[in-house]
Amino acid sequence: MVGCSEVVGGVLVLWAESGLWIEGEEEWEWGEGVNWCARSLPDGPAGFASGCNQFRYRHQIPSPYSQRSTPEELETALETALEEGYRHIDTAYVYQNEDAIGRVLSRWLSAGKVTRDELFIVTKLPPVGNRPEGVSKYLGRSLKSLGLDYVDLYLVHVPYGFKEKDEELTPTAEDGSVLLDNDTDHAAIWKAMEEEVTKGRTKAIGLSNFNEKQIERVLKGAVLPPANLQVELHIYFQQRRLVEFCKKHDITVCAYSPLGSRGTAGLLSSKELPDLMDNPVVKEIAERLSRTPAQVLLRHTVQRGIAVIPKSTNKDRIRQNFKVLDFTLSDEDVSKLDALDQGPVGRIVDFSFFKGETAAAYLLNKERDKENSEVVWINNGKLTGLIVRY
Ligand code: A2P
Repeated sequence: MVGCSEVVGGVLVLWAESGLWIEGEEEWEWGEGVNWCARSLPDGPAGFASGCNQFRYRHQIPSPYSQRSTPEELETALETALEEGYRHIDTAYVYQNEDAIGRVLSRWLSAGKVTRDELFIVTKLPPVGNRPEGVSKYLGRSLKSLGLDYVDLYLVHVPYGFKEKDEELTPTAEDGSVLLDNDTDHAAIWKAMEEEVTKGRTKAIGLSNFNEKQIERVLKGAVLPPANLQVELHIYFQQRRLVEFCKKHDITVCAYSPLGSRGTAGLLSSKELPDLMDNPVVKEIAERLSRTPAQVLLRHTVQRGIAVIPKSTNKDRIRQNFKVLDFTLSDEDVSKLDALDQGPVGRIVDFSFFKGETAAAYLLNKERDKENSEVVWINNGKLTGLIVRY
């Protein structure tokens, strides 16, 4: 088996081209945490493509959610990724590429090149669907586009909700500001997410871009706790505190933008993006180990027990990014890389692409990044949208 994984006795076992690869319990000390598939799926196999077995796939039209590739380029890239052994495919309703992914999956499944249980397909509830009835509606649409009966993991993409307006992904008022839905209720949404596991339309459920407070509120009323949290995480923004929090609550973590998302310059962030691969520490380690800077960056995160989803449409780089299981960073190198963490300042995806003073993610960032922010919860602490006093 290539690029698939199992949880055996609390240890995550990855199967890669190079053969069986096992991370010892010491590194995966939150072994129970990676057992989330088993927990969410009492009868099912524990299949989690961790480490490098991921392939992130984005939309072709420039938008907050996209990088610039045509559907054809994306299909070709996904073919390459699957050939290389990637089995975890991360997508989202808002990326608007589920159709293209569905076409590739259909080809691979019908040709018998891969079986459904070898794949780990992740998609996400869009902000316009962030209400209980939206879960069934938008998961249904995603499944239809992907041509699947179920996904392996369904994530609430963001903690804030937008009002529905026609079919707009980011509904805006005339002045261009986002139509934030201030009645967003995380607890109610989570109940609807749990129902989808019961219905068998997703094997597991999780969150993305949620902060500690927001996760805690979901956990409070959850029958099925979130299995996974997907957040921005890389060498300059290592999310130490949030990762510790997730470990404590048995929530696995998946890192988006693990290479710093340089391709999204001007799209996902308002600031000048740093080139993580050009960092002298990263470069020195890469040269000494005869690896590429990207491999060093990915390996550093993988070695923390965090899944990575590097995005690439380039054949060589897709290949390169998959080969991070056959080397280990020494404690000394890990310490050097750990020291590059800039904390919240290192955040790239600042959500400033949403216009308006009450842009949800802007508020979200303020809340996430400031210990005692002025962000307040509407309705006196009920799980709702956010408002800020600045
Ligand atoms: P490309 O698609 O041309 O390979 P992230 O996953 O952090 O969002 O980063 C994605 C960006 O990094 C894309 O611009 C991608 O470009 C580039 N990239 C992906 N893999 C590598 C690599 N191994 N070396 C250099 N750049 C890479």
